[in-house]
Amino acid sequence: MNHSLSTIINARLQGREGLYRISIANGRFSDISAQTGFDKAGESDLDAAGNLVAPPFVEPHIHLDAAMTAGEPRWNKSGTLFEGIECWAERKAMLTREDVIERAERTLKLFAGQGIQYVRTHVDVTDPQLTALQAMLEVRERVASTIDLQIVAFPQEGIWSFRNGKELMEESVRMGADVVGGIPHFEFTRDYGVESVRWLMELAHKNDRLVDVHCDEIDDPESRFLEVLAAEALRLDYGSRVTASHTCAMGSYNDAYCSRLFRLLKKSGLRFLSMPTESLHLQGRFDGYPKRRGLTRVPELLDAGLKVAFGQDSIRDPWYPLGNGNMLRTLDVGLHGCHMLGMSWIERSLELVTDNGAAAMDLREYGIAEGMPARCMVLQGQNPYEVLLGQQPVLASVRDGRVLISRQG
Ligand code: FE2
Repeated sequence: MNHSLSTIINARLQGREGLYRISIANGRFSDISAQTGFDKAGESDLDAAGNLVAPPFVEPHIHLDAAMTAGEPRWNKSGTLFEGIECWAERKAMLTREDVIERAERTLKLFAGQGIQYVRTHVDVTDPQLTALQAMLEVRERVASTIDLQIVAFPQEGIWSFRNGKELMEESVRMGADVVGGIPHFEFTRDYGVESVRWLMELAHKNDRLVDVHCDEIDDPESRFLEVLAAEALRLDYGSRVTASHTCAMGSYNDAYCSRLFRLLKKSGLRFLSMPTESLHLQGRFDGYPKRRGLTRVPELLDAGLKVAFGQDSIRDPWYPLGNGNMLRTLDVGLHGCHMLGMSWIERSLELVTDNGAAAMDLREYGIAEGMPARCMVLQGQNPYEVLLGQQPVLASVRDGRVLISRQG
């Protein structure tokens, strides 16, 4: 299905009472007006039938180069992040351009079917051939009519701790990576980690790129690279373009340290991404009981006015064997893991898989408002609570006024 719409009728909108008619002209929302009751759909109308219409889902953190490789060449038996990296290093040696493109596109098709229109993928650039990066740059163009894809130059095995790590990062930026990544907690020493964060921030700033660092993805309370990232973001006045992914160690920090840290985080305006299914699976692995959750302080960050979103991180890869692209599943797990099933959190929960992900991706045109690109989805339910209860696939996904997918409720 791929026809153009002039109107979406009988739509419910978050935070507003009643039904709305959303008009579209030249691929953009041109008018949003209240209806007095249910209207009958015409030829070029999409009937939302009283369901919630929201901006598209955002997947702000995934590894498409590793997607769909679970069990190849072997399964991750311990379930740790570190055995995952070992398994991936073996699979990485077998990568080809065709292999990466086929798996990435298969995964993105799955995502599009779930109402996702924006994706940020990390691509491992600790590979002298940069095979996956070259393939993903092609994928970015091939999927552009259905998905906006941002590519992170991600140094899976470290920048300081991998031969020619700096040169590979620089080359990735030259080739067209949108975002500069990092992994300071995995560098061989604390000093390497600190230096790598300072260096990658300069690289991004100098080249006008975004930043998304795998930061403190470990249960070690001594892993404190977030403060370095935030301080650099503040120094360069770059916070809204910098994302801290994971920050699992914050779940293990003591409250006195966190109190000081939050002052800096608020000043820096950094974006945060938590990957609840992944972290609940990978973290806590070195604990006996009591066993930590390994999740960052999501409600506290939101209460501090910071933008936090959820991502899937993995889909059937050496780190995580499951995943189906349904962001409502990720949201459900995240709300459970973060003690966020109070009704006030549920009512605003969709921001964790829509608006806040858009903020992390630094999307300038996103949301349902006059003048914005006509991109949205029809969810199954009248409000976030009903949507979350059902966790049903989206009824429709609309991109620039075209219906990408449509299914019966
Ligand atoms: Fe990741």
